[in-house]
Amino acid sequence: MYKYKILKNKIEKKLNLLSYRRKSNYFGRANSAIWCIGEFLKKNSTKRIIILPSTMCVSPAIIFKLLGFKLEFVDVNKSNGLLNVKKVIKTINEKNNEIACIFYVNLFGNKDLEARKLKNFKKIFIIQDLAQTFLNKENIKSDVFGDLIILSFGYSKIFDLDHGGIVLSNNDKFYNYGLKFDEKIKNTNVSNIGKKKYLRWYDDVIIKKKKNSLKNLRSFASKIYLIKFNNKKLTQINNSLNLLSKEFKRRNSLFKVYKKKITKLKLNIIHSKDTFIPWRFSFLINNKDFYLKLIRKKGNDASSYYPNIGRAFSNKKNKNSYVNSDLIQEKVINFWLTKEYNRNRINKICSLLNDK
Ligand SMILES: Cc1ncc(COP(=O)(O)O)c(C=O)c1O
Repeated sequence: MYKYKILKNKIEKKLNLLSYRRKSNYFGRANSAIWCIGEFLKKNSTKRIIILPSTMCVSPAIIFKLLGFKLEFVDVNKSNGLLNVKKVIKTINEKNNEIACIFYVNLFGNKDLEARKLKNFKKIFIIQDLAQTFLNKENIKSDVFGDLIILSFGYSKIFDLDHGGIVLSNNDKFYNYGLKFDEKIKNTNVSNIGKKKYLRWYDDVIIKKKKNSLKNLRSFASKIYLIKFNNKKLTQINNSLNLLSKEFKRRNSLFKVYKKKITKLKLNIIHSKDTFIPWRFSFLINNKDFYLKLIRKKGNDASSYYPNIGRAFSNKKNKNSYVNSDLIQEKVINFWLTKEYNRNRINKICSLLNDK
């Protein structure tokens, strides 16, 4: 419809200014976009290794695994949760001819100036996943270095519209492929049965460390990851982009409150100096369950999420290669920066921690 075309043009223009990418493809979720990218890579390359960080959300790994890629996990830095670039380069030097792509996730909204070095490997495709954070006016060109850039408007993201993923690129071939991919998808919503099966798999494999099987992944993946884009969300997406600067400022100022007011605990903050929009205030702490319980008792919440997925997906030989991801899984707490948490409430959380 004409109205949707106009909105898409408006959105594309705004995103172009922030990302230096001309084209935008729309999907029901970032995970649908990742599925599309996986199929696109398979079609256009004979290489089958994908380098991924051992700390990230499980879904991209599930999708690439099901599409037949060999997943090569690399440990992250303890200081910022991002792929350790030195280790990535070492892996590339060992297996250069087989590597199709690097899946680079700007987890926690963090940036790493070293990461742009990965662009020097001209034959390796880079997917830069910004699903958990968002582009903003303060970006400089080299912060956005992927061949394809992923954004999300899904659950728990910076702009949570419970639907929508965008891929930005200057790649006409991918753009056309992406249009057809979304056209073919039938599901408009994540199915309940798929969600249930996924949660059972997550509990078994990630929490209880049981064996990961392709058969189980197949039982839910397409039901929850292949979702058609709903054009009705375009207005909300466009409105969200108008609020970008405001959201960047709001989150950064709340972030600073946590940082300044938690004075009595020894925290290792997982945050780089330079960031995209911060997702949460994340830090590592010994005895995290004690602190989580403490603040939950008073009606506040925090998440303690970031699994070591290298461990769940790798063979036995690699199981102990991801020490920083193990550390993050064991010690991370993420405090909210959402609208429910204003300055006042955050001050109270900080006092609670200081007085413990
Ligand atoms: C880094 C990353 N990539 C992709 C996704 C998937 O996003 P969506 O829920 O839009 O499919 C997530 C969601 O948790 C994520 O954190």
